[in-house]
Amino acid sequence: MEDDIQIETENNQINIGVFDSGIGGLWILKYLREKLPEYNYIFFGDQAHVPYGARTKEEIIKFSEEITKFLIDKDCQLIVVACNTASGASLKYLREKFPYIPFVGMEPAVKPAVESSDSGRIGVLATPATFEGELYSSVVERFAHDAELFESTCVGLVEQIEKGDLDSEKTLNILEKALRPMMDKNIDTIVLGCTHYPFVIPRRKEIVGEKVHVIDPTPAIVKHVGRILDESGLINEVTDQGTTEIYTSGNPAEVEAIILKLLGETIKVKKHEIN
Ligand code: DGL
Repeated sequence: MEDDIQIETENNQINIGVFDSGIGGLWILKYLREKLPEYNYIFFGDQAHVPYGARTKEEIIKFSEEITKFLIDKDCQLIVVACNTASGASLKYLREKFPYIPFVGMEPAVKPAVESSDSGRIGVLATPATFEGELYSSVVERFAHDAELFESTCVGLVEQIEKGDLDSEKTLNILEKALRPMMDKNIDTIVLGCTHYPFVIPRRKEIVGEKVHVIDPTPAIVKHVGRILDESGLINEVTDQGTTEIYTSGNPAEVEAIILKLLGETIKVKKHEIN
């Protein structure tokens, strides 16, 4: 019975799995390693299938399940779905399929945005699959009745970020196109509903202005991971700095180059294919 499976690592240092369609989840991994450094991390980026945002729910569930199996094979005892799109499509399925694994997922931070906005005029940036999913509708229904939301899918932005291209004219045009209409509606808050976007949006003060509050959910997610580790009794018996392994279904050399560019770190990336 799957419910009875207990996963233990040899040295009692807990392994945390983190995955995303691509490099967006590395932003979350960076914070996890800063705030919870004593854990081991195994990250999987599905570069062979990025972007997930234009894919069907069935496809995203299939990829998420394969990645989860890989991370469980690597003895991960908690899994962070560091992708709004994969969380919206597959979190419910993953929790039912792997009930012995605690999952932490993402949802667009509409609730904190509504709470902190003065005007109630809020921009939300996410992928088409996230906007079409039930998770997003339920967040809007629960928290945003008194707010006015202006949504954009930032067409092409995930692909630019995957290339490590944060500053070219093409990237800036995509941002202008996505953000200008909502800036013209006098929004005072922007929700980053895709884990790729923190790499680029907060840098673009010339487009979002100094006054607009940009909500990056990463610190809240990392806190939540800490709580779930405690609640699940997943406490390391050793307090040494943990290790980090990074896998991609795409080209390891390319991912290494992007990690160096975006995070300033030289880190070995290994290949693992999923179907
Ligand atoms: N980073 C992902 C998210 O949070 C998805 C980007 C994509 O693959 O389309 O939504």
